[in-house]
Amino acid sequence: MLGAMTNIGFGIDIGGSGIKGARVDLDNGDFVGDRIKIATPRPATPEAVAKTVAEIVRLAEWDGPVGLTMPSVIKAQIARTAANIDESWIGTDVHELFARHLGDREITVLNDADAAGIAEVAFGDPRARQGSALFLTFGTGIGSALLIDGHLFPNTELGHLMIGDFEAEERASSAAKDRDELSFRKWAKRVNRVLAEYERLLNPGAFIVGGGISREHEKWVPLLEVEAPVFPAQLRNRAGIVGAAMAVAAHVTP
Ligand code: BGC
Repeated sequence: MLGAMTNIGFGIDIGGSGIKGARVDLDNGDFVGDRIKIATPRPATPEAVAKTVAEIVRLAEWDGPVGLTMPSVIKAQIARTAANIDESWIGTDVHELFARHLGDREITVLNDADAAGIAEVAFGDPRARQGSALFLTFGTGIGSALLIDGHLFPNTELGHLMIGDFEAEERASSAAKDRDELSFRKWAKRVNRVLAEYERLLNPGAFIVGGGISREHEKWVPLLEVEAPVFPAQLRNRAGIVGAAMAVAAHVTP
């Protein structure tokens, strides 16, 4: 089997709108073959999502270990929160759930931003592994991964920090930009407010900004005004899948 002979893993990123999986070359972080994407079932209950995950693994003809990421705090393989997916995830033993649907193989589930952060450390900008860095993903929500010399402090949820009377991600995610039809300039003002608060409380050495909207980083990163340097993530949307594949290959179980 391909996965057994070479350093290839498999990652799946469970998001609010799509569930995506791909084989990952663990030596360079590239996808091997096509990424498979299926729309997230509605409602996105654990059983419905696990069935979709099993379908992706079947379509990929993959029988090795599977790493999964989702927008939840995952502690000892139990989902503790659920953002943009069904609330019935809270308290779910995600390892048991996916093992039941994927059969006898190694499985690791971790938070999506944490996965993206460790992928960036391994294959992205070298500044992600030097000193303290706050890695953020801008998408449906704001995900956070706190890094120190490339090591992860897992399960931070800085997108939910209250700033004044609003939650950071409610105003400054890229979904908020779309929802409120904001220009990059107007949206960057909101992002600035959020980063200023993160800087006030955490003083990271650098901010790394990822998520799909980091593809257009030249339109907004130069408008950010925090003291620490802000640089765009290099892995963009690929990062969650890559980090998930890395986590299971390293036998990480947050
Ligand atoms: C969730 C986080 C997640 C982030 C990005 C937030 O709403 O609470 O767990 O990392 O969205 O998906």
